[in-house]
Amino acid sequence: MESSKLLTQRAVVLILMIMVVLPFVLARLYISHITLLLTAVYTELPLLPLISMAPPLPKISGVANGEEQREQRSPPNEDHIAQKETVLKEEEEEKQHDCHEQTEEDSTEKLKKDEVNTNSDGLRQEQIGIDDPIQVIDFSVGGCNIWKGKWIPHHSPPAYTNATCQFIQGHQDCLKNGRPDLQYLQWKWKPHDCDLPLFDAEEFLKLVQGKAWAFVGDSISRNHFQSILCFLSQVESPEHLYRDDRDLFVRWFFPLYNFTLAVFWSPFLVRWTEDDVEGLPPNTQKLHLDVVDKNWASAIHKYDYVVLSGGHWFMKPSIYFMNNEIIGCHYLPGTNFTQIGFYYGLQTALQTVYDYLISSSYNGVVFFRTFTPAHFENGQWHEGGNCVRTAPTHNATLGGVTLEMYNIQVKEFGRALRLSKPCSTFKIVDTIHASVLRADGHPGPYRSLGATRTDLPQDCLHWCLPGAIDTWSAMLLEMLRHM
Ligand SMILES: *[C@@H]1O[C@H](CO)[C@@H](O)[C@H](O)[C@H]1NC(C)=O
Ligand SMILES: *[C@@H]1O[C@H](CO)[C@@H](O)[C@H](O)[C@H]1NC(C)=O
Ligand SMILES: *[C@@H]1O[C@H](CO)[C@@H](O)[C@H](O)[C@H]1NC(C)=O
Ligand SMILES: *[C@@H]1O[C@H](CO)[C@@H](O)[C@H](O)[C@H]1NC(C)=O
Repeated sequence: MESSKLLTQRAVVLILMIMVVLPFVLARLYISHITLLLTAVYTELPLLPLISMAPPLPKISGVANGEEQREQRSPPNEDHIAQKETVLKEEEEEKQHDCHEQTEEDSTEKLKKDEVNTNSDGLRQEQIGIDDPIQVIDFSVGGCNIWKGKWIPHHSPPAYTNATCQFIQGHQDCLKNGRPDLQYLQWKWKPHDCDLPLFDAEEFLKLVQGKAWAFVGDSISRNHFQSILCFLSQVESPEHLYRDDRDLFVRWFFPLYNFTLAVFWSPFLVRWTEDDVEGLPPNTQKLHLDVVDKNWASAIHKYDYVVLSGGHWFMKPSIYFMNNEIIGCHYLPGTNFTQIGFYYGLQTALQTVYDYLISSSYNGVVFFRTFTPAHFENGQWHEGGNCVRTAPTHNATLGGVTLEMYNIQVKEFGRALRLSKPCSTFKIVDTIHASVLRADGHPGPYRSLGATRTDLPQDCLHWCLPGAIDTWSAMLLEMLRHM
């Protein structure tokens, strides 16, 4: 009797433990899955259907010319200014004038200033240390950290749909592709300490009137660009200014607001090619970690705002160049290149990008959007991994490769802030925390009409439009409101 009671008690305790611990373990597992997936997957297979949905670098003429890019040998800091746009240059000089005196100030002075600013308790320079650059980042927007919070139910229809927006990429058009559950559209981001208003297209257009705005990055950057484009097109139908034949470089104009919105394809932000080169293994990315990608760098002076982002492409098999010499690789088994890995690749590339921005005459607003998490479960993406959730995972945490990539991005951003000129505006767009909770926000099988392409892996990386990614747009608008 006694022992069976004890047994029952134990069973109850065990069940309770399983109930409490299992979800936690699962949540963990599922994050570490991403890790596995990203390291193994992105490296072992030459082809990346998901990421490769963004086609390879096009051969196009004009500013964004791949050939021109390849021939450029000069280092990043010298090769852009002498270019083309004399008119722009004059404008730049005018703007620069205001900042001139401050610009003379050396970076040590700047460093001291930062520390005074960020430490009311009077800590001294040495105590904070340059190796903790994250400390200088201000994550607040209008006095509130809008990046940390939770998703709350919200039952109003989306601001646009496949029926009212013609700019949604087929792969991300979940409504049109027949995704049956629609609850993923019924959530609103609620920062812990304030409210984040939904995106207001008219307000956005008023704030950017007469300006030009560029998204620079990979297919997730284009995903985000299309979110904004869809919102804005509800207010005014944009005019088509430019599109290359692969939809990688696109520019729209909103005449009423004299506003230009563009997207630039640059998955590494630095110079790269994926064309096969004699003597080098095929299907590899060749990255010049010390040279900024001219496709965007030579054009940003025409833009008042630029949103930089990236990360996932660094996990592809790559050969790294510095000063036109091979310094190593990421994941090329069977070759004798030194494996230095994609963390190094990402970090060095970001340093190059920020060094370029800091030393260039660019004085628009630079937004850096943090890493976007993928949500494959039950296998890696090429093993039938999927994302079938229909509600946010309220307690998923950052981990593994996702966290590492994020840490590198944030650290390099902080470092850039320290070195930047007093007049420059660098802003972090820290979307990762809200995004990691939205395992339900991806197309999954609905990357194609009726989810009929069972031969394709699911897409648990890009985001449905409309959907969770629209919140990134609301976050950008909130930043604009407070600038
Ligand atoms: C995670 O969230 C689920 C509900 O979404 C809950 O049941 C579970 O207890 C949570 N786990 C932890 C560790 O907080
Ligand atoms: C939008 O998607 C729905 C299915 O949800 C479909 O019936 C409709 O034809 C689509 N509209 C357009 C314009 O593609
Ligand atoms: C439109 O904006 C540009 C700057 O982006 C400005 O030079 C031009 O004068 C504006 N045009 C009108 C009609 O306001
Ligand atoms: C590997 O090393 C050998 C000998 O050091 C050299 O001959 C060969 O070219 C190298 N291969 C590659 C791919 O670098």
